[in-house]
Amino acid sequence: MTYMIEAEKEFERLEFQAKMRNYDFRKELNHLEIAERAQIVDAGSGSGVVSRYLAEAYPQSSVTGFDFSELRVRQAQRAATGLSNLCFKTASLDRLPISSAQVDLIVCRFVLEHLSATEQKAVLDEFYRCLKPGGRIIAIDVDGWFQNIYPSTPWIDEVVAKCNRENPIDLRVGRKIPTLLETSGFKVLPPRIELMNFEGEELEHEKQLIRSRLAQAAPFLNEFLESNENVTRFGNDVLHCLNSQNSVLYYCKFIVTGVKPDRVLRSLT
Ligand SMILES: C[S@@+](CC[C@H](N)C(=O)[O-])C[C@H]1O[C@@H](n2cnc3c(N)ncnc32)[C@H](O)[C@@H]1O
Repeated sequence: MTYMIEAEKEFERLEFQAKMRNYDFRKELNHLEIAERAQIVDAGSGSGVVSRYLAEAYPQSSVTGFDFSELRVRQAQRAATGLSNLCFKTASLDRLPISSAQVDLIVCRFVLEHLSATEQKAVLDEFYRCLKPGGRIIAIDVDGWFQNIYPSTPWIDEVVAKCNRENPIDLRVGRKIPTLLETSGFKVLPPRIELMNFEGEELEHEKQLIRSRLAQAAPFLNEFLESNENVTRFGNDVLHCLNSQNSVLYYCKFIVTGVKPDRVLRSLT
């Protein structure tokens, strides 16, 4: 498993992103009901911004952030001083160092999009194993990266079509989450689907994010699009379109809760 935008600067990018209105994780998680002394996992914790929030908001709980990037784990640890109920560990999400049925809540945000279909299944099966009966996974991801841009260009459309065919990143993962969770055995609650609409300052910030995502993913993209020029042309096309008057950019954010069924209760009914 690899993460195509792995880079030293990824910490700053994730912290910047988390401050934007459209990426407001506090709002995404405002429906959480957390038991006293819950065991919480932030799966694919990145800079640790969500882990820090959970540890502060639920001081009786114990929060562990897992990420397979050693650099990201070190950076997250450095940023999380003074929170004794929070730790970060390096691990791949399909092999978590957790005994079965130990965890009350797993938050997995903006990670599934980076996994192939096989990896998505392996990771969600692993979450199922780690959760207690009645435990919950909240999977949050975006649907529509680079697709819901108008005006567009033939080259943007071609790159998006190639991406959807070959799936190095899942641009339409949001809509798949309820089915993915059900396939791994979860009972799926009705998904929250929210519009991420970019205009004004929020659009300027998203352009900044697009620039850094493309720059950080350059080693991967150069190979995927077969040349550096093709990558540059893609970035220029996207930014040119977004700079035109009346341009439109929107994604949908899926916030989906899956519950691990309580086998005891189920067998009684
Ligand atoms: C887009 S970032 C999201 C970070 C954080 N969840 C947030 O919302 O800001 C995705 C993170 O998932 C991690 N990641 C991706 N695939 C992973 C895997 N298979 N195992 C562990 N971590 C993974 C990456 O290293 C990266 O830090």
